[in-house]
Amino acid sequence: MADFRDAREEIRGRIGILDLVSEYVTLKRAGKSLKGLCPFHAEKTPSFTVNEVFGTWRCFGCGEHGDIFTFLMKMENLTFAEAIERLAQRCGVQLDQPDSASSRRAGRKEILAGINSLATGYYSAMLKKMPSAVKYLHDRGLADSTIEQFHIGYAPAAWDGLLQYLGKKGIEVNDAIEAGLLIRSERDSFYDRFRNRIVFPILDIQERIIGFGGRAIGDDQPKYLNSPETPLFVKTRSLYGMNLARKAIASADRVLVVEGYMDTITVHQAGFANCVATLGTALTQEHINVLARLTKNVVLTYDADSAGMKAALRGAYMFEQAECDVRIARLPKGEDPDSLIRTGKVAEFATAIDNALPIAGYRIADLLEKHDLSTVVGKTAMLNEAAKVLSEVSSFTDRERYIKELAAYHPNWGTGTAHAEDHIRADVETQIRKRHGDNKPVARPNVKAGRPGALDQALRIVLRVLILGEEGADTVLEALSPEKFSGEVFQKAAEALFGMFREKRGIYLTEILEKSDPETANFLNELAMREGEPPISEKALKDCLAWIENSGISKTRTSEILAPGMKNGAIDPEGWSEGQGESFSEYLRRKGKLKRADE
Ligand code: CTP
Ligand code: MN
Repeated sequence: MADFRDAREEIRGRIGILDLVSEYVTLKRAGKSLKGLCPFHAEKTPSFTVNEVFGTWRCFGCGEHGDIFTFLMKMENLTFAEAIERLAQRCGVQLDQPDSASSRRAGRKEILAGINSLATGYYSAMLKKMPSAVKYLHDRGLADSTIEQFHIGYAPAAWDGLLQYLGKKGIEVNDAIEAGLLIRSERDSFYDRFRNRIVFPILDIQERIIGFGGRAIGDDQPKYLNSPETPLFVKTRSLYGMNLARKAIASADRVLVVEGYMDTITVHQAGFANCVATLGTALTQEHINVLARLTKNVVLTYDADSAGMKAALRGAYMFEQAECDVRIARLPKGEDPDSLIRTGKVAEFATAIDNALPIAGYRIADLLEKHDLSTVVGKTAMLNEAAKVLSEVSSFTDRERYIKELAAYHPNWGTGTAHAEDHIRADVETQIRKRHGDNKPVARPNVKAGRPGALDQALRIVLRVLILGEEGADTVLEALSPEKFSGEVFQKAAEALFGMFREKRGIYLTEILEKSDPETANFLNELAMREGEPPISEKALKDCLAWIENSGISKTRTSEILAPGMKNGAIDPEGWSEGQGESFSEYLRRKGKLKRADE
């Protein structure tokens, strides 16, 4: 190929834009064009479009556009020359001038990949000569076809097996060291990195062998030994099984992320081809980006131990940030996907995948398991922690769904589902306020501005006495009437409570809440929530009533205050007058309506 320009056209003719782009982006046909989520900016609705006929792509969201070369450049962070070289190699076009710095760099990677490929062949051949290693794999449930599909091999126990082999193939020692296959000792001799280990080659989506994972057959430490990072092997970007899983992830529109090599392999063998693993590193943003381009539906299927659960949650939050619908599968305690499938429980594994839970659901399921729900203490502790979890759920609808489920565990469930739900809801709202560093109620009742705090407090206390049907309830009913409760929401609450008491001689909170408008219901609910506090003492109640009376008097005409009371027949106003210096509570006491604590 004489001319760079000719080469470009030649490559363009051989590599369809669709083939290239769909390795990175899941495209769906929309009319004449193909659309997908733009890999170059974050978006929820596809605005990345590919034109097959012209061999071009364009994103109507971010405005980026180009052809196969610019796509690969942007995607893989390559120079133009590197992109051409990569694509030329892919479709078998010869290039003439391979000696620029960038092509040398690209060339290095190819050299390393070549050495890795030789090593893979060697390890494969060694496996065939080592029945005990084959037996190990068979014992772990792997079929021969799986061993082949994953190019699994065996590194012999000798210190120089691969060293000798690569030497015979004319490979430079330094290149093999850079590939991570040989190690230079302090005495300047060389030896094999992988010895007496099962070797798992790691392939990228171009099917290049970029590195290896080696598992000890016996109890040698470490259990897993991986290739070091090389220009070719970047662990924070690489996912094990990606070469085999990519298409399945796109077509199933879902990815299963597992922790280990063996997990990936067994899961694939069990028929779930959309499975990948990270390589001895935690999930990174790069992993997330790679996967989120293919699908937004992620199931984390990590080991059911505490480390796995922690890692799953951490990963889940990262996927959530990337706008993925992420779920976490719950496997039986102590199991990992490999152990479950190997013991024949494929169906159980499939169910765990189907029943995988979103973050909040997963955390709540964990709380339900952790606490002793046969005791009130256990239930309460669980609900308190659950309220914190739910305070992080941004969707109101989702939150309500969880609250309904949790209500069954509320100690007061017997007194009514709605009541229990209200309590949990109130706790969740308290947690939300706490998280926002705000102590005000979420929906602040419409309290008349400028009213003294003590009066406000007194009104709340007496309403609470009514709601909870505490001992002083009759006193309150006799001493006050709803009109005394200034402030719209206070008055509505009082009307509802007084009305129900008169009608039913008791308070049925659920019924009241159902009848009330949302603001009043919220307010009543907030008052009822203080159920756990000790009942108010008679003296305190008396002070409250006095406060309410005195504050009212200072602002309103006596006749206006007393008139409703008269109508209700609760008190006899005849015997009391402001002018004689007797306070209203003193009057009530004289009438036997209020008692001192010591009486
Ligand atoms: N890992 C690693 N180095 C280690 C231990 C683990 O790189 N020393 C990585 C490997 O990728 C491994 C994964 O972490 O597959 C999960 O580790 P672990 O759960 O300990 O191993 P399993 O996958 O269960 O391995 P096996 O079933 O072979 O015991
Ligand atoms: Mn395992």
